[in-house]
Amino acid sequence: MPFVYLREQFADAEPILAALRELVATGDFTLGKAVADFEAAFAARLAARHAIGVNSGTDALKLSLRALGVGPGGEVITAANTFIATAGAIADVGARPVFVDVDDSFCIDPDRIEAAITPKTKAIIPVHLTGNVADLPRIAAIAARHGVPIVEDACQAICSTLDGRCAGTWGITGTFSLHPQKFLNIWGDGGVIVTNDDALAQKLRLLRNHGLADRDTVVMLGVNSRLDSLQAVVARRVLDTAEAIIRRRNENAAIYDAGFAAIPGIRVPPRNPRVRHTFVTYQVFAEERDRLLAHCLANGVECKVHYPVPVYRQPALDHLGYRRGDFPVTDRQAAEAITFPVHQYLVREQLDHALAVVRDFRRARP
Ligand SMILES: Cc1ncc(COP(=O)(O)O)c(C=O)c1O
Repeated sequence: MPFVYLREQFADAEPILAALRELVATGDFTLGKAVADFEAAFAARLAARHAIGVNSGTDALKLSLRALGVGPGGEVITAANTFIATAGAIADVGARPVFVDVDDSFCIDPDRIEAAITPKTKAIIPVHLTGNVADLPRIAAIAARHGVPIVEDACQAICSTLDGRCAGTWGITGTFSLHPQKFLNIWGDGGVIVTNDDALAQKLRLLRNHGLADRDTVVMLGVNSRLDSLQAVVARRVLDTAEAIIRRRNENAAIYDAGFAAIPGIRVPPRNPRVRHTFVTYQVFAEERDRLLAHCLANGVECKVHYPVPVYRQPALDHLGYRRGDFPVTDRQAAEAITFPVHQYLVREQLDHALAVVRDFRRARP
């Protein structure tokens, strides 16, 4: 049961290659129609006013923060359990990441946000980890009370919804990754920012392209963070398959949930019925996680751990002064969470095999 499925996904790449050949014939290689078409389709799919293609999810975060004027001296609150890119983007614009613990949804615990707000807080970045959605209504109420904007890190949550509304469309911006490890995956790096704010959208379009209002006029200092036009062609095609992918992943997750719930020593995270999860990763909590991981790997189930060392304990962030134990739920997840393959190419026998492997492991325990 391999974790990665990209060979299967692109086994018949002919339609994409045909679209790429069409692009090559036009020579329209930077921004242009390919990017505009993808942006329009992505915005429509998420019911957002604007989508702006950029070169990665990391840049989507960085440009969002820059567009909001977040920089040196500012603090940005985010989840202690996240991929390094969230904290890295905050630090890269010169601000200070302020971590808040998560809860069993793998997302920031709304009960703990307010205590982290200071006069220096310039933004809150909830991270929709695993394809779940953070408690956005509560986070939005807290943010509004303090006049702080929300930038959603929806890099792992393309098309995830809460109360029917897409992750990424609740904050002032929502940021997405098209990296091959996400399910809307392209053939390299790419990202998207969505926003319903017209002025911000215009600013973000300038920031991603050197601040060029036209060929010869630079109205603000920006960067080169354009979504590659070739990748936009790939993304446009994969977007058409998103619904089918999400459905399959949810079916797989439901089989796992039912199976794992009956195995002692395994705990399935709570499922919020208001959320449509997209299961970029499928994670449960396990006693003796590292032994179970080794057992799964030895029996052909390619499990992983996201993330064994929480970002707040990474050496690169030592200067922030956090210490082991500051975020007990994040620490527990780092010790207990195990990720099972959940992708859309798995068949029932493989899911049953994974469950049987875990059952065997538990049976062998005293
Ligand atoms: C939670 C989270 N934030 C940000 C990113 C950064 O996205 P990218 O790899 O496209 O820069 C990722 C993906 O790797 C992610 O999982």
